[in-house]
Amino acid sequence: MKFRLLVVDDEKNIREGLAVSLEMDGYEVVTAVDGDVGLKRFGKGDIDLVITDLRMPGLSGEELLRHVTTENPGIPVIVLTGHGTVENAVEAMRRGAWDFLTKPVNLDHLSQLVKRALQNRELALKHRELEEELAQKKQFETIIGTSAPMRRVFDTISRAAPTKASILITGESGVGKELVADAIHGLSPRKGKPLIKVHCAALAESILESELFGHEKGSFTGAVSRRRGRFELANEGTLFLDEIGEIDQNIQIKLLRVLQEKKFERLGGEETIETDVRLVAATNKDLKAEIEKGNFREDLYFRLNVVNIHVPPLRERKDDIPLLIAAFLKEFARENNKTIEGVNEKARAAIYAYDWPGNVRELRNCVESAVVMTPGPLIGPEDLPPTIRRGNDEGWIRIPLGSTLEEAEKIIIRDTLSAQRGNKSRAADVLGIGRKTLHRKLADHADHADYGADGDDGYEEEEL
Ligand SMILES: Nc1ncnc2c1ncn2[C@@H]1O[C@H](COP(=O)(O)OP(=O)(O)OP(=O)(O)O)[C@@H](O)[C@H]1O
Ligand SMILES: [Mg+2]
Repeated sequence: MKFRLLVVDDEKNIREGLAVSLEMDGYEVVTAVDGDVGLKRFGKGDIDLVITDLRMPGLSGEELLRHVTTENPGIPVIVLTGHGTVENAVEAMRRGAWDFLTKPVNLDHLSQLVKRALQNRELALKHRELEEELAQKKQFETIIGTSAPMRRVFDTISRAAPTKASILITGESGVGKELVADAIHGLSPRKGKPLIKVHCAALAESILESELFGHEKGSFTGAVSRRRGRFELANEGTLFLDEIGEIDQNIQIKLLRVLQEKKFERLGGEETIETDVRLVAATNKDLKAEIEKGNFREDLYFRLNVVNIHVPPLRERKDDIPLLIAAFLKEFARENNKTIEGVNEKARAAIYAYDWPGNVRELRNCVESAVVMTPGPLIGPEDLPPTIRRGNDEGWIRIPLGSTLEEAEKIIIRDTLSAQRGNKSRAADVLGIGRKTLHRKLADHADHADYGADGDDGYEEEEL
């Protein structure tokens, strides 16, 4: 990479002398005749290092330095100073200059200085890249998942997080929407600023309004002092509005205004407050359906949903289950001071067969209770909550490996009959055989008596 240097000096000889010398060192050099021209050129954003005289007509070197260090603090500025004004140069260094040179400039010295400054800048850039990469890794470590749908979620987060766009996170309860909101904030330039969360469904309308926008003293009974709202507290940061589908029309209008104008007033207040907030909202409701029903404003929906991140339900990404189990086992084994080696085959099958309506939250709770319940180092199906244990029996037939075809048939008939609560004609339908055939097979099986295959009245419901 060829570095581009900006040389700013009102003295032509110096300007051109420096340029020639630096070009011989292999840099690309652009020059400017004074501070104003220099600043304009710098504004293009492609300069790696600035060398500037301090005293110039128009914008001074000090002012140029101030612009560069505030707008682009990573870029080194070397200041040039005439004889007898070294104090100014020292002051410039205090204000962020990389170093200074006195005129007449020693070109060897300049060459060394520029080289070191640029090396340092490169290192700093690399360091920052690594830090950003690390931050990203860390954020995504808290959201476990390697399935294709989750990788798409991570991808959208990475692309949307650095922007200011409003994000709507959708998905069923317990899929991890709040974790996604945390990741968005953590990967945004606002990460050092507050992430404020408001659980909209948990608050009554009047309280929610003052929570969001704040209130002035005496604006309603109980408003004994002025209070700043979450929009003020989240200034320069991120505001996470959870369960946005629950807010009523009045607050919807106010939200819309903040999103459009970045301004609002406290309840009972006259003063208009400006705010710089990045909004992230989440809902497990179908907002489009709510719009249809007239419960949610369409204009607000579009403002919130600039970027949509849909977190799919766990049953659609069962590939993530093993990793999630491993992480939760580790967490809860440590918390409960137990040594847990893992989950045995049967329990694993039950977990896999279940469709997890409560999503990751339910899986997490399930693993926690299993860790608490289990006596041994391996979690078995008996340690799982009954709904999940049963979930495995319902809708599934398990045939042990090594079974003969005859044994397998027996199990299939037995379980189908059991699922049909003993009704043989329905079982025959499900199995795709005639009722007589079923009767015959049952009679052939040594254990047919278990099913009440006692004759000809297969049309009746037979309770087992
Ligand atoms: N991918 C994941 N990796 C690790 N933990 C997860 C993951 N997804 C969810 N969790 C955990 O599951 C629980 C529920 O997650 P979260 O609160 O983010 O869900 P939600 O989508 O906001 O649910 P709700 O709509 O009910 O508010 C939390 O304990 C969270 O840490
Ligand atoms: Mg949530």
